Amino acid sequence: MTKFRIGVLDPIASEGLELLRAASDFEFEERVGLKGDELRSSLADFDGVIIRSGVKITAESLTGNRRLKAIVRAGVGTDNIDKEAATRLGIVVMNTPSGNTLSTAEHAFALMLALSRSVAPAYAGLCNGKWDRKLYMGTQLADKTLGIVGLGRIGREVALRGLAFRMRVIAYDPFLTDEQATKLGIERVETVAEMLPKVDYLTVHTPLTGETKHLVGKKELASLKPGIRLINCARGGIYDEAALVEGLKNGQIAGVALDVFESEPCTDSPLFGMPGVVCTPHLGASTEEAQTQVAVEGIQLLLNYLGTGEIRHAVNVAALDPKTLASLRSQLDVAYRLGLLVSQWHGGAVAGCNLTYRGNVADRDTKLLTNAFCVGLMERSLEEDINIINAEMLLRERGIELNENRSHEMGAFSSSITAEVHGGQRKVKAAGTVFGHHMPRLVMLDDYRLEAYIDGNLLIFTHQDVPGIIGKVGTAFGQHEVNIAQMAVGRGGNQPGGHAIGVLNLDSQPTQDALDDMLAIDAIDKIQTIELPPAGQLPVWLQ
Ligand code: NAD
Ligand code: MLT
Repeated sequence: MTKFRIGVLDPIASEGLELLRAASDFEFEERVGLKGDELRSSLADFDGVIIRSGVKITAESLTGNRRLKAIVRAGVGTDNIDKEAATRLGIVVMNTPSGNTLSTAEHAFALMLALSRSVAPAYAGLCNGKWDRKLYMGTQLADKTLGIVGLGRIGREVALRGLAFRMRVIAYDPFLTDEQATKLGIERVETVAEMLPKVDYLTVHTPLTGETKHLVGKKELASLKPGIRLINCARGGIYDEAALVEGLKNGQIAGVALDVFESEPCTDSPLFGMPGVVCTPHLGASTEEAQTQVAVEGIQLLLNYLGTGEIRHAVNVAALDPKTLASLRSQLDVAYRLGLLVSQWHGGAVAGCNLTYRGNVADRDTKLLTNAFCVGLMERSLEEDINIINAEMLLRERGIELNENRSHEMGAFSSSITAEVHGGQRKVKAAGTVFGHHMPRLVMLDDYRLEAYIDGNLLIFTHQDVPGIIGKVGTAFGQHEVNIAQMAVGRGGNQPGGHAIGVLNLDSQPTQDALDDMLAIDAIDKIQTIELPPAGQLPVWLQ
């Protein structure tokens, strides 16, 4: 059996490497400091990679990659990964969201205290032989107001520490409710602007987004409470560095502490050396504990995904734990097979699809099921690899509309999935369900109810519901030595004598002569072959 290959592309804690050494089904290699062509060719050598913030996984570095299945970020921020490019290639991107939370919250506090008590310049003074106790008069944190923008994992820990220091804590986060704020013992404000004139310390714990970029810029300087101290342990660019310089110079700002910079690595900044400034080189997560945790967690994510398909902490797809995967596998298979079937039964360019989940399946993670359907729908017409990570994106990129409906009413089956697709002048419909534990079945095709296998070589024919059809079809195929393994028929309106549909499950592909003989049968008006995976064969991404 070929072993999965894992690339360690940034230095990670030895505990993570130990896990890799102990994983006998995996091989790994450390290749750090890669860029350009070297990075692109290396990424194509691995099934999964683990990175920190050093290496930049750009769209270009992923060009033409047909091997990589997972990128794990040992840390929180995934801004050094082009997630859109990864998703398009079906690569899952995962992070370790909580491993460095405490260390980063502590670092924000270390900087806040260092600013308040001039720790860095006082020590530098001592090193230069100066014992100056007046110059470094500080301020205490107790009874001051701390403003926090972003009350996620780190922001909350910072809030708790602020309260422990007897600070008044005010927070802004679009997802923070009054109830949560009251429970935490802090105040909630509606906007950042409302907070700026009130706070003695401002700390940010959000990602860098269009909304958070330059959240404090030149325009905001005048609204800051005079003597404010600003801390950033989140992402460079949330404060406009040029505005910070201006605010320090004009005295509006008393202190600035940055762990992160607009451009990193940053070894030259007008802020460096200014009074009231203390900076660190992106050290928020640099503790033994945090690094061990993110390395171990990150490697486990990779091993589990490659080994079992478990998806945790993905930033570009819904989670899929082993229990859910096991319990959903048959439904995912049905959804995938329905996609394959309707794309062939429709036969043309699809403009839109409607999926309806009925009964128990409506309570499950239907997004995953929809993705599985999309894989089936497009797989045959795409050159690129498609899986449940990139399927929906590829579908929408092609301008195909996708709607999902759920109904808890069971109908004839405890669970069923109905897929309708339309495009051009044609509209087709198919519904599937699972019999027993893993027996996918087609239970409706267009408006005909039936019970057919949904695997292998199918032949669908529509015909007038007249006596003798089944015998004639059997004879035609018998003459061409095509064995019919199973046959199902459905009648329009369940009434005899009208229009009907037949689905044959064949042991081999019929020849064109066999198909011509079948089409020559008077009552038959349309035939269509459908190729599906054999019974029990799951797509790679479901195994
Ligand atoms: P998180 O996802 O748990 O929390 C982020 C919070 O920001 C969320 O609650 C979100 O609602 C909020 N938010 C988003 N946009 C906002 C906006 N416009 N205004 C206000 N709030 C907004 O993330 P986290 O783990 O707490 O990490 C926070 C940041 O810290 C991330 O950018 C992460 O990359 C960074 N980080 C830095 C270091 C370091 O070494 N300096 C270490 C870990 C994390
Ligand atoms: C993160 O996003 O986790 C941080 O930037 C920490 C890091 O990786 O060094």
